Amino acid sequence: MRTPLVAANWKMHGTQAFARQLLADLEKGFASSSCSAQVLICPPFPYLSLVGDVAGETVALGAQNLSEQKNGAFTGEVSAEMLLDCGASYVLVGHSERRSLYGESDELVAKKFAVAKSSGLIPVLCIGESLEEREAGKTLEVVAGQLNAIASQGLESPWQDTVIAYEPVWAIGTGKTATPEQAQEVHRFIREQLGEAGVSTQILYGGSVKADNAVELFAQPDIDGALVGGASLKAEEFVSICCAAD
Ligand code: PGA
Repeated sequence: MRTPLVAANWKMHGTQAFARQLLADLEKGFASSSCSAQVLICPPFPYLSLVGDVAGETVALGAQNLSEQKNGAFTGEVSAEMLLDCGASYVLVGHSERRSLYGESDELVAKKFAVAKSSGLIPVLCIGESLEEREAGKTLEVVAGQLNAIASQGLESPWQDTVIAYEPVWAIGTGKTATPEQAQEVHRFIREQLGEAGVSTQILYGGSVKADNAVELFAQPDIDGALVGGASLKAEEFVSICCAAD
């Protein structure tokens, strides 16, 4: 019913040469496998067109961030329209690194989400709790709050044509993964919060996903794929994760 989706978040890594090599290695890897998961690549802004030109027929293209403004004197910002113009169809919104390192509040994330939706980009809304919040038993409360910030924008169908990525902050880039049971509990809760639309919304898990933990995570009924950081920079590893989602 829900197509598995595996998204690569390259973060601020690589060069044009690195991107070309990685794409060539991915192409080889996919050609010799028979996996049919949907694949999304989110490179840094300057390499969007390169990825679109080289791999646009086989993978979807996404950006890692967008401005909440439409256009104008906003130095250093990149608009939804520009992303569409470069061939992107998805955009990460509210990644925990944006929230914690660049001070993106729930309110700002909600504005970015609304701009993405109104311009026709599919937002990949990233939500998740910190270690402190988990240890205080507040995981579900935090996640519900992050979803409510979006829902309270009054958008017509916020969860339709939207992807959610549940990424416990303590699992991102740390090598610590949520157990499949921990992840499933939150995924199910998220799906319930989305109401009817939740039946078809892809909910991805993110946080130290690797080839050797992907199969167990993807076996959970409410985990529809992954948002992959570090392991998406290694072709063989990323192809294995995509195939595990099949
Ligand atoms: P990671 O990153 O796979 O390196 O933990 C995931 C993410 O930040 O989206």
